[in-house]
Amino acid sequence: MGVSWFSKKERDVAGQVDFDHLPRHIAIILDGNGRWAKKRGLPRTAGHKVGAETFRSIATYCRDIGIDYLTVYAFSTENWKRPKDEVDTIMALLRQYLLEAIDTMERDNVRLSFMGDLSVLTEELRGLAAQCNEISGRLTGCQCNICVNYGGRAELVHAAQRFARDCLMGLAEPAGLTEEVFEGYLYSAGIPSPDLLIRPGGEQRLSNFLLWQCAYSEFYYTDVLWPDFSKEELHRAIAAYQCRNRRFGGVSGGGV
Ligand code: IPE
Ligand code: IPE
Ligand code: MG
Repeated sequence: MGVSWFSKKERDVAGQVDFDHLPRHIAIILDGNGRWAKKRGLPRTAGHKVGAETFRSIATYCRDIGIDYLTVYAFSTENWKRPKDEVDTIMALLRQYLLEAIDTMERDNVRLSFMGDLSVLTEELRGLAAQCNEISGRLTGCQCNICVNYGGRAELVHAAQRFARDCLMGLAEPAGLTEEVFEGYLYSAGIPSPDLLIRPGGEQRLSNFLLWQCAYSEFYYTDVLWPDFSKEELHRAIAAYQCRNRRFGGVSGGGV
């Protein structure tokens, strides 16, 4: 397995998680469903079905161990380029997921929220998403953000448009724009930036995910394909994260 980007220290602690110092926010690019299916001689859509199950179990596990925020990239603004039957299957799986979530999220105390331009989704899907948002307002548990028709560039353009509109309406002014103010116009307003970004599937790129929010996230790549992603793999990612020295541009240990 291609794990050459791990440091020796990270290899030594593989899977040994310090549960008292977990990342507060984990983001995951759910990648590798198609290749998982291809390897088994199955249609790509079969990979998406198993991938959706994997998402259910990993999201539940993140809640169990006390992760505050989990943000997953489920469908990008570029994924519309895919064959219609694949897009239709992904949307049908999303519908199924939301229907189940509406029945279970209160019991599970998992909040669901969405990032992306949902305006192009079917009325039914938008209605289900709105129902999830409404239920979430009454809950306090782990917040799971599902990125659908999401693109980091589109999010920045959308934020800029909203800010410009506020300026035209006299509600804001260009000189008052700071990083903090701008963050308030993003889909992720009010949510801390991801501490750890995990990409399964072997690619080492962002693919237009959370361009603003990942400025100081720790990246973890693995060749494991998303449908095979397990609790143990999550442990490896968290343990690797716990070996990192986050300096945010400063120096180690906060010294002078
Ligand atoms: C990720 O898996 C799911 C989506 C992008 C919707 P892929 O479908 O990209 O799987 P690979 O990368 O082709 O294996
Ligand atoms: C990123 O995966 C998007 C999602 C997982 C939703 P892609 O499979 O679309 O990314 P590329 O094409 O490999 O960059
Ligand atoms: Mg892919």
